[in-house]
Amino acid sequence: MVGNTPSAPEDLGVTIIGENKGWGIPTFKPQAQDKLFELFKLAEKLDVIAIGVDLECAGSTFWTTPEKRVYRKSEKELRELVDSTEKPVIFKGIMNSEDAGKVVDSGASACYVSNHGGRVMDGGQAVAEVLPDIAREISGKIPILADGAVRTGFDVLKVLALGADVALLGRPLAQMSIAGGEVAVKKYLDYVKDDLRRAMILTGCDTLEDANMDILA
Ligand SMILES: Cc1cc2nc3c(=O)[nH]c(=O)nc-3n(C[C@H](O)[C@H](O)[C@H](O)COP(=O)(O)O)c2cc1C
Repeated sequence: MVGNTPSAPEDLGVTIIGENKGWGIPTFKPQAQDKLFELFKLAEKLDVIAIGVDLECAGSTFWTTPEKRVYRKSEKELRELVDSTEKPVIFKGIMNSEDAGKVVDSGASACYVSNHGGRVMDGGQAVAEVLPDIAREISGKIPILADGAVRTGFDVLKVLALGADVALLGRPLAQMSIAGGEVAVKKYLDYVKDDLRRAMILTGCDTLEDANMDILA
């Protein structure tokens, strides 16, 4: 997944994914609807895997400029975005069950639970705190993705046990790619996979589906 940073051209996330034959998911800031429709079209043309919008950045004073504002999105606007493309749409930054329900109602393909790695609102809740509630509300309806401080295979298993279908890593992979490129990223992912196997053995999980709240008790 590629972000949509303030210092880079607005379409950076899409262009880079386009250069990699569409292999990626651009994640746009919650800009004006017209701008998002435009970026969605560009993403479609480059045949990306899916399109993300990080809704939690609605208050991003860091990103927004007078010419390039970010907004809170209404339920109607979320539906409009999903309906505007054939590509799967992922809404990122969901932190409570009510909003998760709205993401399901919007027709989105996945609900991405994230507090932006704790970088958007200091003092906000942790993903681990809100996941069980969100899972109770929408589990089985659409996939639940989650990130934030996942560093080891044990962390992956905990996130799945708390109700996510997919655990994602942010900073470790960015750091590894800068430190040693593809080789370092692969080594880190291999470490997480090995650690996950160890975590499964020690908690009696034969499959990832066996990871539930009982293993956390
Ligand atoms: C330097 C930096 C920039 C980020 N920029 C974006 C972004 O543009 N869009 C986005 O959706 N998330 C962005 N994130 C958040 C990550 O996508 C992800 O949610 C978070 O880093 C996960 O937590 P972790 O780094 O602890 O694994 C950024 C994170 C960092 C550290």
